[in-house]
Amino acid sequence: MKIGVNYYPEQWDKVLWKNDITQMAEVGVKVVRLAEFAWSRLEPTEGVYDFGWLDEVIALLEEKGIEVILGTPTNCPPLWLYEKYPDAVMCDEYGNKVTIGIRGHRCYNSPSMIKKTKQIVSKMAEHYGKSKAVVSWQIDNELEAYHCTCEACTEKFRTWLKLKYGSLEQMNKTYGTAMWSGEYSDWSQVKPPMGKQQHWLNPGFLMDHYRFASESMEQFVRLQTACIREFDKTSSITTNMYLGNMTPDFYNTFQDLSYASYDNYPVTVIPDGKEEIYSHAFHLDLTRGIKRKNFCIMEELSGAPGCWMPICRTPKPNMVKGYALQAIARGADLILHFRWRSAMKGAEMFWHGILDHNNVQGRRYQEFRSLCETVHDQLGFLEGTVIKNKVALLFSHEQDNAFKFQQQAQGFHYYSQLKLFHNGVMRTGAGIDIINMTEDLSGYEVIIAPTIYIASQKVVDNLTLFVENGGKLILTNRTGVKDETNACVMENLPGPFAPLVGAYVEEYDALGDSKNIVQMRNGNCYTCSQWADILQEDTAQVLGVYGEDFYKGKAAITQNTYGKGTIYYIGTILERDFYYDFMMEVFRDTTVERMEDLPDGVERSIREDLNHRYMLLFNNTSHIQKINIVDQEPFELQPFDLHVIDLRS
Ligand code: GLA
Repeated sequence: MKIGVNYYPEQWDKVLWKNDITQMAEVGVKVVRLAEFAWSRLEPTEGVYDFGWLDEVIALLEEKGIEVILGTPTNCPPLWLYEKYPDAVMCDEYGNKVTIGIRGHRCYNSPSMIKKTKQIVSKMAEHYGKSKAVVSWQIDNELEAYHCTCEACTEKFRTWLKLKYGSLEQMNKTYGTAMWSGEYSDWSQVKPPMGKQQHWLNPGFLMDHYRFASESMEQFVRLQTACIREFDKTSSITTNMYLGNMTPDFYNTFQDLSYASYDNYPVTVIPDGKEEIYSHAFHLDLTRGIKRKNFCIMEELSGAPGCWMPICRTPKPNMVKGYALQAIARGADLILHFRWRSAMKGAEMFWHGILDHNNVQGRRYQEFRSLCETVHDQLGFLEGTVIKNKVALLFSHEQDNAFKFQQQAQGFHYYSQLKLFHNGVMRTGAGIDIINMTEDLSGYEVIIAPTIYIASQKVVDNLTLFVENGGKLILTNRTGVKDETNACVMENLPGPFAPLVGAYVEEYDALGDSKNIVQMRNGNCYTCSQWADILQEDTAQVLGVYGEDFYKGKAAITQNTYGKGTIYYIGTILERDFYYDFMMEVFRDTTVERMEDLPDGVERSIREDLNHRYMLLFNNTSHIQKINIVDQEPFELQPFDLHVIDLRS
């Protein structure tokens, strides 16, 4: 396990390099990421490469035993490139070239961009492929599956559709373009989605474009991977992701990469409401689930974020250290803080680093030192340990994308619903993975699969097999609504899952912000909102009924037996406590480990290998928490502190 930093030598006067790197070594930095935005310095004019300055920096780092992760600089093509090859600039939703001058404006499908990418990445790989100091590569930076409308993208999208549908007739039929006279009579009429009002466009077509946009980006990653691999057969390769509106399919993106990396900027103010308290943990669990193995935090919070928004509150004492430890507790093995020192110039000068502008070793720097000591000197025993859980929450890009342009009800968000279940499981102390819907589910006892709105046969088969073999499956509202073409199915919902559920949706009510209540068979009552599936049970037992409105007394939550397994169907979105109570019930006759009296906001996880098992408790609240563990002296956990217990000793 290693702690490192992000460093931008090209942004600093050369006289600072040596001193910076000496300080890095002294404070305990083991890894540095370099160069992901430095194209204009690496190739100042076309075909003229200057790696001398980078060689110098890498030599200084190597001298101190610090490893390097080298970024490919394709996020920021230099201005000469855009000038000479205007097709390299992406186009916006009106077909206009986006304004250059800030980063991320290159088009992945532009022939010139592809050519220049191959050249710069191959040159770098040739030059650094054998370097001992360079241990890993990062492709580009925070890649997005944006919807470019340039000529190259338009042409490529048409080819993609031709390959998929074979004929215009088939495509028209699949999309149902007879609606509003939207039928295509010539391929030249097909254009990427244009304009701001995209929810007026055809949902089948939009879905395809989301898929196409992600695939274009994935190809850009594969192209760079191949260039690196030609010269460097051994170093690992990754890319750093963040979660935003244009996040690509990260399961596909990372498929051929060595490990997943995530940019982790947890909020610096703990929210009052408890809904978001496990939000950091959720993102970390999601990252671990991408390759179902330990991962890297390529950028970690170091100071107050700011720049394109007002400056946030500065991290409270112990947050800079604590959030790194929290990531370790959820499977991170490598964490690089962003950034070594706050920039003096440029758009990002108020996104604060470990060192402030004054270059004084202040409070956060001392905390970072303490983090390096803790991780490198005291937590070494966690090296090689992994997280294995018996509960998984299923994620899917298809669902996430589908809701972006067809929101189902006021306040209903895919991520929020996933987080409610994650939150409930976290409170019980059980470990939870977040994995792709199509993963092999053997080894799990409980699968939570909220909102499988677009149901592929593969997912139906996967979940049916899981249940037949004795698993417990939780399904929810808006499941089985659509087929893979993003068209509605002419069946009772939950469509292909109805046999598993043993009940069907007789009618539904998009509650939005309105409220109803659910009365459980065990006497508990919970508020619900956003959505209400009014269920008619067949073989299923009713666990909860609605308490109000014209469907008062009708089933809201059911339980059914299928094969050796059990299926729960939750037709609505309930208040937070429901998810805790419900998960406790579901876990009752399983071997899922829980912890009694776990304070709300304290996160429990287990890292283990063949011979060791460690329980990690992280306090994600701003209060001291009292921890009671059976057969042990109670102890106090400070805010953002991690406590590790060896379960085998
Ligand atoms: C992202 C980017 C970084 C930097 C940080 C902070 O995560 O990858 O280059 O811009 O945000 O703004």
